[in-house]
Parts: sequence; structure tokens; C-alpha cells
Amino acid sequence: MSRFTVLHLTDLHLTRHPDDMHHGFNAWQRWQQMIEHCLLSPAADQPRPDLLVLGGDLAQHPEAITYQALRQCLDQLDLPWVCVPGNHDDVSLMRQLWGDSAGLPCADQWQAGRWQLLLCDSTADGDGRGSGSLSAAALARLQYQLQHPQAEHQLVVLHHHLLPVNSPWQDEVMTGNAAEVLALLDQAPQLRGVLCGHVHQAHHWRRGHWQMWSTPAVAAQFAAGQPGFLLEPQPALQAPAGRWLQLGDDGSMRTSTVYAIRGST
Ligand SMILES: [Fe+2]
Repeated sequence: MSRFTVLHLTDLHLTRHPDDMHHGFNAWQRWQQMIEHCLLSPAADQPRPDLLVLGGDLAQHPEAITYQALRQCLDQLDLPWVCVPGNHDDVSLMRQLWGDSAGLPCADQWQAGRWQLLLCDSTADGDGRGSGSLSAAALARLQYQLQHPQAEHQLVVLHHHLLPVNSPWQDEVMTGNAAEVLALLDQAPQLRGVLCGHVHQAHHWRRGHWQMWSTPAVAAQFAAGQPGFLLEPQPALQAPAGRWLQLGDDGSMRTSTVYAIRGST
């Protein structure tokens, strides 16, 4: 059975200047570390991904200089990539700078064999503190895509989480209209999974016929299950991280987190 391999990297929080810090860490160094670990000097048994999916919060502050520097880096990888915006991003600026061809940052779907990825913008109606929703147009597009699948299996990608992580400060800024999105997902039998970022920590949910995973951040990690903001205290979970997914022709999904520490997954 053939498998399609996806690398999901999210919450880069890249800064304007390469020496700037984000929550005490150098975001550009962490991004380079992750790319090195997964793509440039991968473990011997790690296949090169077929697609890189960027899960939003690419920039800490959405400035052209930061997006242009990231684009330069992505161009050197010689790898197809797509992205969804996060609450720290400016999707209009990304479209303006990156166009809608090479990296497909503005695409709303990606097809590979028997899989279709649905790429959703969950940054509408943000309150400036991290929240976001699918706009009416994004919701309508998702509904159409789910009701008219272009492949046998579907995977939805968005930045904000749709189900609680049981950290009150983070659940206040989950997808604002999650109930409407969940109602659509629950009615799509070909849906296999949902990928999100935003929470800077790994979670896994099962919901009926589909599952959802959050991917830890490339930037600073946050501790899970906290009433308020707390950086991840466990050294093993502090490294830059991402998620591998192998999408099988039969609809199966294998996934694991990867931390940029040699020998770890
Ligand atoms: Fe983030």
C-alpha cells in the first residue's frame, strides 16, 4: 500500500531580526534546527516528506521582511508546501508577498492520490488575544468541500483547536465557531482527521469516525493542562517540534510527534 508522507510544522513565531527572542528562545534558530533535523540531515530511516504543511503563526509580528525571509528558506528546500494562517499572521500580506502559485499559501485544498487536504483560515473575527473563527465564506467553502470530496479521504488543516485542551486560558481562544465546524465535520464520512496548532503542545482527540491532533510548536512550547500561561517545564518537551503523518491509500493515518533532538520522536 502506498503512503503519502506529510510533515506538519506550526507556530514558528519568526521574528523580524534573527537575533530577537520569543519567550526566551531564538525562533529562527529553532526553525533552522527543525529543518535540519527533519529535512536536511534526517535520521537514516526517515523518508523525505511528500508535502510540508505549515500550520500558522509563521511570524510573531506579520511583517514583509519576516515572510520574505521564510519564503527564501522554503524555496531552498525544494519541497512542495502549503500553509494556513494563524492569529499572529496577516493573510492579506502573505497573499500579496507570496502570490498564489509557487507555495500555494492561498490554496484552500491540496490533493495527493486518494487524499484531499482542506486548508482552512480560522483567523476571522480575532479579538487580538489569540482567538479566531472561520468566516462565513470559509465555513461555506468547507461545507462544499466536505459535501463534494475530490478524493476518497479528507484531512482538514486549520490553526485553532476545535475541541478543548482543558487549559482555560487556551480554551478561551479556541475556534470561536467550533460548534458549527464540528457539525460539518461530523456529517462527512470521508473525513479521517483534523490537524491544528495554536496550543504549542501535543494532543489527540477521537470523535466518532474522525480524529484530531494538535502539533507542538517549532517555537517555545507551552505546558498542558494549566489555568494560565506557563512555558513547558519538562526538558524533553522543550525542543522545537513537529508532526509526521503517513496517509495510507486505505484511509489509515499513522502519526507521531518529532522533537529536534537526535534519536527522539
Ligand atoms: Fe502560536
